[in-house]
Amino acid sequence: MIKPDGVHRQLIGEIITRFEQRGLKIVASKFVHLSRERAEEHYQEHTQKDFFDDLVEFITSGPVMAMVLEGADATRQVRSMVGETDPAESAPGTIRGDFGLDLGRNVIHASDHEDPGANEQEIDLFFDSDELIEYDRIDSEWLYEWLRVCLI
Ligand code: CDP
Ligand code: MG
Repeated sequence: MIKPDGVHRQLIGEIITRFEQRGLKIVASKFVHLSRERAEEHYQEHTQKDFFDDLVEFITSGPVMAMVLEGADATRQVRSMVGETDPAESAPGTIRGDFGLDLGRNVIHASDHEDPGANEQEIDLFFDSDELIEYDRIDSEWLYEWLRVCLI
């Protein structure tokens, strides 16, 4: 999910391009202004944290671009492309490392790959099942060796 700072800073295209070029498939997308209720549910694991109110305030301060990406080991790969929670600790080449400097303005959210089921739960919070589109990327045989048809 591209956060309001990423949207305002016109980074949507740049960020989506990175995911597309990596080989990840966009199966759903939604431009939405989160309600306070949905934001609080999305970040419920942080309810007791001192940054919770500021976080909810920020994430509801403008539109976000929510996306579902599919691909081999997608949740972990997306997290590694996103970088560390703090942009200041994120390596150059990662999204937060290239586009942020401040922990409270870290451009993008991604499901936690170390929290089993978090990705599915977040998909359910943002999308109805009929909003997930099934299709094949035309380059999929060039992205995955195991899909390559043997012609000899
Ligand atoms: O987003 P990520 O999963 O990397 O981090 P998190 O620990 O799940 O925290 C969620 C979000 O809360 C972060 O992305 C930051 O926007 C914010 N946060 C903060 O403002 N101050 C902190 N000390 C930790 C997190
Ligand atoms: Mg998290």
